[in-house]
Amino acid sequence: MSLKQIDMNFGPNYKDYGVIGYSEKISEVVTIVKTIAPTGLSVLVSGESGTGKEVFAELIHRLSDRKNRIFVPINCGAIPEGLIENELFGHEKGSFTSATDRSKGYFENADGGTIFLDEIGELPLQAQVKLLRVLENGTFMKVGGVKNIKVNVRIVAATNKDLVKMVEKGQFREDLYYRLKAVTINLPSLRERLADIPVFVLKFAFDSAAKYKRDVLTFEKDAISEIVNHHWKGNIRELKNFIDMLTVMETGKTVTGASVRKYLKSDVSGSYLPVLVKDNEDSEKNSEVVFRTLLEIKNEINLIKKFIFNTYSRNISPGYFDRPERTVEEPSEPEIVSGEPVTDKDEIVFTLKKHGGNRRKAASELKISERTLYRKIEKYGIEL
Ligand SMILES: Nc1ncnc2c1ncn2[C@@H]1O[C@H](COP(=O)(O)OP(=O)(O)OP(=O)(O)O)[C@@H](O)[C@H]1O
Ligand SMILES: [Mg+2]
Repeated sequence: MSLKQIDMNFGPNYKDYGVIGYSEKISEVVTIVKTIAPTGLSVLVSGESGTGKEVFAELIHRLSDRKNRIFVPINCGAIPEGLIENELFGHEKGSFTSATDRSKGYFENADGGTIFLDEIGELPLQAQVKLLRVLENGTFMKVGGVKNIKVNVRIVAATNKDLVKMVEKGQFREDLYYRLKAVTINLPSLRERLADIPVFVLKFAFDSAAKYKRDVLTFEKDAISEIVNHHWKGNIRELKNFIDMLTVMETGKTVTGASVRKYLKSDVSGSYLPVLVKDNEDSEKNSEVVFRTLLEIKNEINLIKKFIFNTYSRNISPGYFDRPERTVEEPSEPEIVSGEPVTDKDEIVFTLKKHGGNRRKAASELKISERTLYRKIEKYGIEL
């Protein structure tokens, strides 16, 4: 399949926004999006991790008459609980000790545009009350405020959590849930849209080559079949990262089924590890390789730990090896711990740097919530 053929399959209305796919499932979603986008209705986008919730939220905005106004993506899980109302709705002067001026929140700043509330399930109950009010009549009060402020903001929310279960547990307001779910878009997982995988592979190969200044990969049929048949738990994001890695490791080559199998086999914990390291001329280009090698060392340390545990130890507390993975500097001697998972400053700095400061990705790799990561960044005074 050539890139020209792919281009024809993108479809004229949404290819400009980087949204690709022509499988039956995604075509159904696009049809719904095209219908609801111009209406201004609030929308709930649900789907597994990495299925394109943010991409589709932005598509809804771009296909609406708000397209020339602001699109504001907010990750509710990344803002500390105590600050979220202030961030969303702003505050009046004197509403708390350091409030020396009145401030606008995201809602006021996004007037006329669209707010994308990602990870809506992370919104504290108190802020949920205010959000429901905005959804009902477009008004809210600032923190410490007494008068209603009216805004014209479209709300698109997203979740990969089961909000019904959260409602049952009293963690999410039922009235807000019913208000939000009136228009729901369920994004299919990659395994439900296998027909799109070849298109993604070629598109990402093209994008990665440009991003890493490498030659574009070509793929044997067998390689595409291997990729299509693999279970991509992290969906499109994971597939994209895999193609990035292949572009760096196999630059300009024709990728075979065997080499896809080789890299997928070496994926011990969600990372794709190099077997051979070539091309040492340019250290910047090779940072990816160095980084992958560090991951390989880390995984080997974990395997050794598991081996020691299985072979010699009967007294280590249960759950020790279930803790999140730690940095390569970690002593290989297993220590006996219990309670909270341990993460340290070095590991956080390392992981943040690895992801170019992207907190969401770093938190996901550290297996902690973004809010916890935020607190740790504050606590350790980390500046990148
Ligand atoms: N239809 C698509 N066309 C092109 N790229 C896509 C498409 N859908 C998703 N992607 C890419 O896949 C990655 C994940 O997409 P996105 O961040 O929108 O997923 P998500 O569902 O919001 O993930 P999470 O649950 O982790 O927040 C991004 O790099 C995005 O550009
Ligand atoms: Mg997202």
